Amino acid sequence: MINYIKKMFNQNSKDKSKLLAEIGRIYAQVPQDFGGGCSIEKALAMSLLIKEFNLQNTVDIGVYRGRSLFPQAIAHKLFSNGIVYGIDPYTKEAANQSDYPEIQKELDEFVSTTDFQKLFDDVSLIINENYKENCILIRKKSSDAVADFKQDSKQLDMVHIDGNHDTKFVMDDVENYLPLLSEKSFIVLDDISWKSVEPAIILLNKEMNFVTQKVDKQNDFAIFSKGLSKDEVIGLKNKIDTEIS
Ligand SMILES: C[S@@+](CC[C@H](N)C(=O)[O-])C[C@H]1O[C@@H](n2cnc3c(N)ncnc32)[C@H](O)[C@@H]1O
Repeated sequence: MINYIKKMFNQNSKDKSKLLAEIGRIYAQVPQDFGGGCSIEKALAMSLLIKEFNLQNTVDIGVYRGRSLFPQAIAHKLFSNGIVYGIDPYTKEAANQSDYPEIQKELDEFVSTTDFQKLFDDVSLIINENYKENCILIRKKSSDAVADFKQDSKQLDMVHIDGNHDTKFVMDDVENYLPLLSEKSFIVLDDISWKSVEPAIILLNKEMNFVTQKVDKQNDFAIFSKGLSKDEVIGLKNKIDTEIS
């Protein structure tokens, strides 16, 4: 296995403790609920990728309260000095979903009772107080924000896709953001057990290399890579699985 992957993660357990302490501090302020949530395992997987591959530009599609955004900001702040771009329009209209009929009532009730302006204000405040240098919140739909990245010729090292889960929007996210990926890069796809997300998994399996997935009570995500050799993918899978087991 390639040497740098062999050494990954375990070379500095002090760094990992620092990372976990800061994620824990922020998670205490940002609860999980029906509208969203990012487990400590997924947070750790994404932030370790940022640290170990020194990722510079990462994107969080679907910010909600920020549980997947802030761990990336923390990893950039502590290790890579990069930036995470959080993308979320924070509107009722964009949050409507209709491809999961079994929970339609809950989905509709969530949208009608959620104060999206307050969510945006709360996340903005946490960024301003903690992660101004390493986190930019873009209040747009992911399909609109992609034009900004293109205009700036920005290459993306990791994209976490957790916006609208209806098939049309997940597919738009994968198709729009795949061309922006840098040479060595990652996509983390959430809610992989949703039927509506299946076509996105099929496309990602064609275009990238599947690294690993975690599906249990707290987790429902898969990680794909681009630009790593077969051996590197296997090595990375083993490392991540060990870290988040
Ligand atoms: C499941 S939540 C995200 C949870 C979040 N990642 C976390 O870790 O808690 C989905 C979010 O996607 C946002 N959203 C809906 N349509 C979107 C779009 N077209 N582009 C970006 N975000 C979108 C919603 O406003 C909502 O905040």
